[in-house]
Amino acid sequence: MRSLLFVPGDSERKMRKAIDCGADALILDLEDSVAQSRKAEARQIVASFLQNTERSAQAPRLIVRVNALDTGLTGDDLTAVVRASPDAILLPKASSGADIQDLDARISVEEAASGLPAGQVLIHALMTETATGMLAAASFSNKSVRLSALTWGAEDLAADIGASSNKNDNGSYTDVFRLARSLTILAAANAGVDAIDTVFTDFRDMGGLDAECRAAVRDGFSGKMAIHPDQVSIINAAFTPPSEDVERAVRILALFSAAGPDAGVLSLDGKMIDKPHLRQAERVARRAGLDPDALPDLS
Ligand code: COA
Ligand code: MG
Repeated sequence: MRSLLFVPGDSERKMRKAIDCGADALILDLEDSVAQSRKAEARQIVASFLQNTERSAQAPRLIVRVNALDTGLTGDDLTAVVRASPDAILLPKASSGADIQDLDARISVEEAASGLPAGQVLIHALMTETATGMLAAASFSNKSVRLSALTWGAEDLAADIGASSNKNDNGSYTDVFRLARSLTILAAANAGVDAIDTVFTDFRDMGGLDAECRAAVRDGFSGKMAIHPDQVSIINAAFTPPSEDVERAVRILALFSAAGPDAGVLSLDGKMIDKPHLRQAERVARRAGLDPDALPDLS
């Protein structure tokens, strides 16, 4: 998933607009973009959108951001939406892997109650919105097979640590927020899941968004969240690997496949190719929508 567009869960109008804006996923939000007084209504709007939207491989994945586990709202959120079969639940303010286990158990109960196949609904987690979550970065691995992506947020973390801003005078993130971003990349690799970059809030600054996307691709993120439909095409373009990278990746995968399971070091175009190149090639192939284990025979 390259682009994941947030849509406030109480706005049917925005959901209808979002569905064909080209985003790979929509994050239907029940948390911060919905006022306390509208939480119940938002649950119903999101559930009926999930039920009435046609699903297909081409249509965007539908993810629901529920309220954090310490709000007392998560149970009602899950009861309302899991039965409508979202692709994933995004947990905000995840404070450790134990929260992932807790959410996994709650989703399992709702899946069973509504007759959905066990394990169908995946989990994404925002892991840097609190100092506690950041310091527990290593604990997110091996807690639930549902966990498929980790992402980070700068706004809530600023509030948690008492920072008056998350950026310095030249517009780049200050150290704690750069650490949050780095920990997300590391925690995702450690857990074997996708790292998704945080939102770029200045939704009229397309040059700034593009630069942030390029840095995210370089550093290992596989996608980025958006807050406005106009951001989607820029994110998609940045996270789509260039065709020459895909061609090279396919050649590397074919070389390793031909060399068999005991392949160590190989050579391509006069350069050394070894295991890290293979892993990188698998990554590029997956980002291009190819299954690295099922490529056509190129020999
Ligand atoms: N999803 C779907 N449609 C959206 C959208 C979004 N995230 N953001 C804007 N739009 C729609 C608007 O409704 C508007 O359509 P309309 O003219 O038919 O009403 C159109 O796109 C143009 O919007 P624009 O005028 O440029 O912006 P805005 O001032 O209406 O909205 C925000 C600005 C920030 C309020 C809006 O982008 C938004 O709600 N973003 C998501 C916020 C969110 O979910 N935050 C939580 C996670 S950080
Ligand atoms: Mg928030």
